Amino acid sequence: MYYIPLLLALGSLYGSDLANDFKARGYSEICDKDYTTSTFDSLYESFEELIQFLQTNRGWAQKLMIAKEQFIRSSDRNYYGTDFFGFYDESNRKGRDQISFYYSAHFHQFVSSHFPEFNEVPEISSFLESCFRIQKTYGHLFIEAAFDLNLETLFMLHSENLPPLLFKVIKYLPSYIPTRPHYDGSALTLFLHSTDNQSLLLSPYKSSFTIADFSSPSRKSLNQFGEPAMVLIPGSHLTEFSLFPTPHIVVQSNKTRYATVAFAMRADYKVPKTKFSLLPKFTHN
Ligand SMILES: [Fe+2]
Repeated sequence: MYYIPLLLALGSLYGSDLANDFKARGYSEICDKDYTTSTFDSLYESFEELIQFLQTNRGWAQKLMIAKEQFIRSSDRNYYGTDFFGFYDESNRKGRDQISFYYSAHFHQFVSSHFPEFNEVPEISSFLESCFRIQKTYGHLFIEAAFDLNLETLFMLHSENLPPLLFKVIKYLPSYIPTRPHYDGSALTLFLHSTDNQSLLLSPYKSSFTIADFSSPSRKSLNQFGEPAMVLIPGSHLTEFSLFPTPHIVVQSNKTRYATVAFAMRADYKVPKTKFSLLPKFTHN
């Protein structure tokens, strides 16, 4: 079985108890041996090529949206419990000023088989292949985290034996202005990489918040390549286990910032009506 040897690796990955880390600091640091900045640099280059292509060929952007609309009507959508897939260009939306792509292996499969013409466009197919290669190396971290949280069955509802992983690549434009922190609609969120780590602020969950509660994770550990640790936080889909979400925000940096995030979703999860603590406004006006 896939899971048993991984259990042995828990001690090295999560030196302290993960649930206590989440309560005390809101996050846990993870040092993955495979992580190098060059992997992500080439992902962002590929993302830039995709953005350029889709912004100048609106017909393909439209077709990608049609593919997404069809995918979220398929049964595979329920594995992820979300409707976020594909390309979101918010570069002209004031306040948002960002462009993102939500990748999942099932969405990729769906696009390749139902819209084979995408396979002929290198800007699209290369980006999807890059996402596939990178995201598949991180599924095991979520399985190990679930074991550490004593939630062994969390990601075992489906035959895949891997968590429903949603992989997001984001480009924040220099004009991006933060508004308020947010809670993620995920079970767990892993901040894999960013070209500007300091802009990510978070706080452990509390009954009330002020701006002063938010700070940048320390990322004291380095991996074998000298790269800073990744950051794992709980999302809002674990409340029945008394795990509360870590609010976070990307603050203004006045420069282009790329980031890559992996969300472990919950298959077939019905989001309960939970009211979390209100979050403070970061804007000046
Ligand atoms: Fe988030």
